[in-house]
Amino acid sequence: MDLVKEIKRLKKEKNAVILAHYYQVPEIQDIADYVGDSLGLSQKAAETDADVIVFAGVHFMAETAKILNPTKTVVLPDLNAGCSLADSCPPDLFGEFTKAHPDHVVITYVNCSAEVKALSDIVCTSSNAVKIVESVPKDTPIIFAPDKNLGRYVMRQTGRDMLLWDGSCIVHEAFSMDKLIALHKKHPDYKIIAHPESEEHILGTATYIGSTSGMINYVKTHPNDKFIVATEAGILHKMQLEMPDTELVPAPAVEDNTCACSECHFMKMNTLQKLYDCLLNESPQIEVPEHIRERALLPIERMLELSK
Ligand code: 13P
Ligand code: SF4
Repeated sequence: MDLVKEIKRLKKEKNAVILAHYYQVPEIQDIADYVGDSLGLSQKAAETDADVIVFAGVHFMAETAKILNPTKTVVLPDLNAGCSLADSCPPDLFGEFTKAHPDHVVITYVNCSAEVKALSDIVCTSSNAVKIVESVPKDTPIIFAPDKNLGRYVMRQTGRDMLLWDGSCIVHEAFSMDKLIALHKKHPDYKIIAHPESEEHILGTATYIGSTSGMINYVKTHPNDKFIVATEAGILHKMQLEMPDTELVPAPAVEDNTCACSECHFMKMNTLQKLYDCLLNESPQIEVPEHIRERALLPIERMLELSK
């Protein structure tokens, strides 16, 4: 069976849209109606008139789409596609933490569960975190969760002190400083660009720090440069498509794996076959209990409003 052809046929038949993150495998990115970062994907999910949303990403992303579209069918190719960062912030512990600091505004990175969003005042992504933090009056204390690396980066950018949750992403904490230094010695003319989920010492080496969309834009606007790219390696597919002549090398991970780069095994759980199956069967579907959805919607809507 020609999976690509069948997916296109089903998409039309069911009035479905395929939204994919830059970390998805190339064949999924190639068939998607829209490929983007977490903010772009939330914006697309908020404005789509499709009846079925196939979310080629991880669970919290599909859940955000469902929170915005309670009457639409939202499917995720593999329900086990989770996120270490979202897992590092259990709702019951986070609830106790926010209760202990009732005077704090709670800003949560979109990489968290619906339950955690329901405990938040404003959601943010890596592309608008600085702007969202700056929207809070200077004398108001802030809790920032769950990513401590992004939180620290935003603190440096804004000069604001924030109470950070101790969470992180296994993929962005897997870069090896020793291997990065060795790689840069071999390619001294390459610029290092990094995602703010990376650790402080990695960010310290970077010429540019930004979200996945920000990194792609940076490469596009610097056509004469070469790059070492410190984020999940799936992004190289889109970067190379946009800039076929630019030399790109993924930042090396501590562990040796097939690509000697950093890959998110959650993102890579989705395959073209699973995407076809979930569209055909309209399963597995994402469901969010209504009392949680109502409370989680508000901080997402605040973010979308502030990002216009
Ligand atoms: P962005 O899509 O905001 O760049 O974040 C990357 C990420 O880790 C998504 O899980
Ligand atoms: Fe979560 Fe990290 Fe994978 Fe993004 S790359 S989905 S933050 S584990």
